[in-house]
Amino acid sequence: MNILEAVSLTKKYGDFTAVNNLDFNVVEGEIFGFLGPNGAGKTTTINMLTGLARVTSGSVYLSGIDYTHNTKKAQRLMGIVPDESNLYDEMDGFQNLTFCAALYGMEKHIREERAERLLRQFGLAEAGKRPFKAYSKGMKRKLTIAAGIIHEPKILFLDEPTTGIDVASARQIRKLSLDLNKKDITIFLTTHYIEEAERLCHRVAFIVDGKIPLPRFLLCLL
Ligand SMILES: Nc1ncnc2c1ncn2[C@@H]1O[C@H](COP(=O)(O)OP(=O)(O)O)[C@@H](O)[C@H]1O
Ligand SMILES: [Mg+2]
Repeated sequence: MNILEAVSLTKKYGDFTAVNNLDFNVVEGEIFGFLGPNGAGKTTTINMLTGLARVTSGSVYLSGIDYTHNTKKAQRLMGIVPDESNLYDEMDGFQNLTFCAALYGMEKHIREERAERLLRQFGLAEAGKRPFKAYSKGMKRKLTIAAGIIHEPKILFLDEPTTGIDVASARQIRKLSLDLNKKDITIFLTTHYIEEAERLCHRVAFIVDGKIPLPRFLLCLL
């Protein structure tokens, strides 16, 4: 069953077409890789799928329901980990997580219990007491992922989760992604590393200059 479906999804910035007529589906329970070079349109696509950017034309469906112009309800079922962290520098790890949980209206004891559990699961129990600005890049990325799943979403969007961090942290993040997927979270992962997509993903789509290119065998037939 498809958890997510994009139909003729298009984003224009003025005269410039950043994403052009994309069609794809994400199957519930899979890790779906969205692969493409810098500037291909990966982040723009995530922003449209998660309601952070307005869709110029086309539609998006979550579990078969069109949410293109009604993103609020769908957003509660989604976790978003942007390429640039959206957490607060002055707050410590625990405060950042409980703050995000409060935005989803969770009760105090539940948000504290979840924040503590995630800090332990992500190897950040000690760091949880330190301000976010004192974290390494890898720790920041891990806390941002923890914040993205604090409300137990059905689908998690990871935008280049291993770009720009050290090798050991990247390995941990790949392992965490697989663990989350085993706990029934569908993952939409963008990356420009083919090896990463190959290692993690059940299926991949390629995007180049805002378009999913025709498979080569189809090009041969043309
Ligand atoms: N707010 C914006 N205004 C105008 N152009 C944009 C905007 N955001 C992205 N773009 C352009 O859209 C294209 C796709 O960008 P992006 O989705 O960030 O690519 P990726 O995430 O694959 O690196 C790029 O050419 C980028 O410059
Ligand atoms: Mg991007």
